[in-house]
Amino acid sequence: MDGTGSNSTYQAITVTPASPTLGAEISNIDLTRPLSDIELAEIKRAFTEHCVLFFRDQHISFEDHVRLGEYFGPIGSHVGTNTNSKLTDDPRVRKFHFDENSPTVSGHVWHTDQSCAEFPPLGSILYNQIIPPNGGGDTMFASMYAAYEGLSDRMQNYLEGLTAWHDGVPTFGPGTPNATHPVIVKHPVSGRKLIYVNRGFTKRINEVSSTESEGILRFLWDHCVLPEYCHRFRWEPHSIAFWDNRCAQHRATNDYLPNVRSGYRVQIEGVVGPVAA
Ligand code: SIN
Repeated sequence: MDGTGSNSTYQAITVTPASPTLGAEISNIDLTRPLSDIELAEIKRAFTEHCVLFFRDQHISFEDHVRLGEYFGPIGSHVGTNTNSKLTDDPRVRKFHFDENSPTVSGHVWHTDQSCAEFPPLGSILYNQIIPPNGGGDTMFASMYAAYEGLSDRMQNYLEGLTAWHDGVPTFGPGTPNATHPVIVKHPVSGRKLIYVNRGFTKRINEVSSTESEGILRFLWDHCVLPEYCHRFRWEPHSIAFWDNRCAQHRATNDYLPNVRSGYRVQIEGVVGPVAA
């Protein structure tokens, strides 16, 4: 047995669930070297099962960071120009640095990364080297599977078949794309249904009146991030969070300035758009 079947135990890596609904800490792995076939198969399995993977004490280079991302797909770029992340000398890696000169931190509204794109990113890998000395800067994650399964049958039926408009301009400025996606989508790997609207980018449910759209979106934004569907990740220096942007929402916590939080992020391109369930 090699640990890659859905009911088998893991053989090569250690997977410790972080909460009942999403997130798992992966240990017994060294990301500074290429993964073996079995390690990779188990990491992919854990990614599908837990939506967000956390790694501790990994001192990775840009090459290591990019290699982990490329196991899942081509490395993508950000859709917006007005972002708080900065380019590095490697166009595949963006710097995420906040300190006393930062007016705020990025991503502190619940969102799915760039759902305003026709093909939103598959996922992102954030590696933080410097963490505020007294804590702060946690990242919160929410499972959109759990949020879907927490709806009544009546609400699930109502939402199925609806589409919503996602706009990037208010967040990232002129020229940022917008897109329409189904409200309830099916994950391309797990096949599970999930809710695909988020407070950061979703502006309108298309098939109903604006008043009804507003009411339903407000309900969904709040429902999707009920504590039961969430995990709050506490960073340590050299931790990594790797989220599946197709089934998990996230938000940064804006509580640590003027302290420094600093790291790098790699984004994996989405090669298909969200598909209706
Ligand atoms: C993000 O929203 O993409 C960044 C999350 C974080 O900095 O914790």
